[in-house]
Amino acid sequence: MNTKIYQVTEQDTMLLEAAGQILRSGGLVAFPTETVYGLGANGLDGQAVKKIFAAKGRPSDNPLILHIAEISGAEKIGVINPCAARLMQAFWPGPLTVIVRKKDCVPDEVTAGLDTVAIRLPSQKVARALICAAGVPVAAPSANLSGKPSPTAPEHVIQDLDGKVDMILDGGSANIGIESTVIDTTGVFPVILRPGGVTLEMVRSIFPQAQAEQHKKEGSADYRPKSPGMKYKHYAPKAKVIVFERNAEEKINRELHRCSEQGLKAGVFCRSSSSYSADHIIRWGDTSAQMAACLFGALREFDGYEVDEILCEAPEKEGVGEGVRNRLYKAAGFDIR
Ligand code: TXA
Ligand code: MG
Repeated sequence: MNTKIYQVTEQDTMLLEAAGQILRSGGLVAFPTETVYGLGANGLDGQAVKKIFAAKGRPSDNPLILHIAEISGAEKIGVINPCAARLMQAFWPGPLTVIVRKKDCVPDEVTAGLDTVAIRLPSQKVARALICAAGVPVAAPSANLSGKPSPTAPEHVIQDLDGKVDMILDGGSANIGIESTVIDTTGVFPVILRPGGVTLEMVRSIFPQAQAEQHKKEGSADYRPKSPGMKYKHYAPKAKVIVFERNAEEKINRELHRCSEQGLKAGVFCRSSSSYSADHIIRWGDTSAQMAACLFGALREFDGYEVDEILCEAPEKEGVGEGVRNRLYKAAGFDIR
């Protein structure tokens, strides 16, 4: 397939209309959002949605998020209870995906047969203009090959999906850098299934009883995620990843010494203030938000350098730090020291 690739802003009406037409008629369009790039298809067309799974190599039991452009679109696809409505009012548009009971128009291909549906209203302007132009809810997972780090820049999407999709819209870098918070509103109180830009503290300011699922290692006895996607090994770069929590500088220096003795190429992902002598160093800044913005790009970059090991300082827990830790722990297969 010949993939058309265009730079786009929300003002490129003709281009967005053409992209919307591709979606309406069953094709695939990759597009920017404020979290990560998405790979979109018409969310009411089961056959179109199947193409997403084929292009990504995604297991079909992992449901997709439906993206909408106006809050009023939510009730057409889901049953909006008072809890969901308050969360939508408070945090949309933005990096929050709300799980509600689904309506009949949502095909099984989107929900993987569940009776619930995930809905998100992104804030990124190109994303909203595209969904408007499509005139249908847009089903979209992250626009990466399954198992690779999520794409936060157009180059990542091109690397993974050129030749596999009809169009890629290049709208610059995603500014948050990790995927949306997924929150389940079908129980007695809201539960965060995947941490992201909307944090537990933010949700608790409205629902003090809100909870978050704990980070758990795949395969452990108590590992029964409610969000099917959380069970897959995600975000895996080729290199071995190790996360360092306390006394990171001292421990990382020790590992760097070991790597050099063993003839292994090492990369370090760390705060700007840290200093190491390693083959490749990528610095994220100081805050967990800065780390979120460059985490997935850094994992891809280290793969490009063909390092054997990636040694990471853990981020602070504040803000989006919980979400960053969740992604980092998975990338490291829970090798946390
Ligand atoms: O920021 C994001 O959420 C990005 C952008 C493109 O919007 N999308 C994204 O999609 O990360 P994806 O498919 O990579 O992740 C969707 C997550 C998966 O963990 C999936 O299992 C979960 O949402 N999910 C979807 N529908 C669900 C449902 N009905 N119940 C529970 N979890 C659901
Ligand atoms: Mg994904």
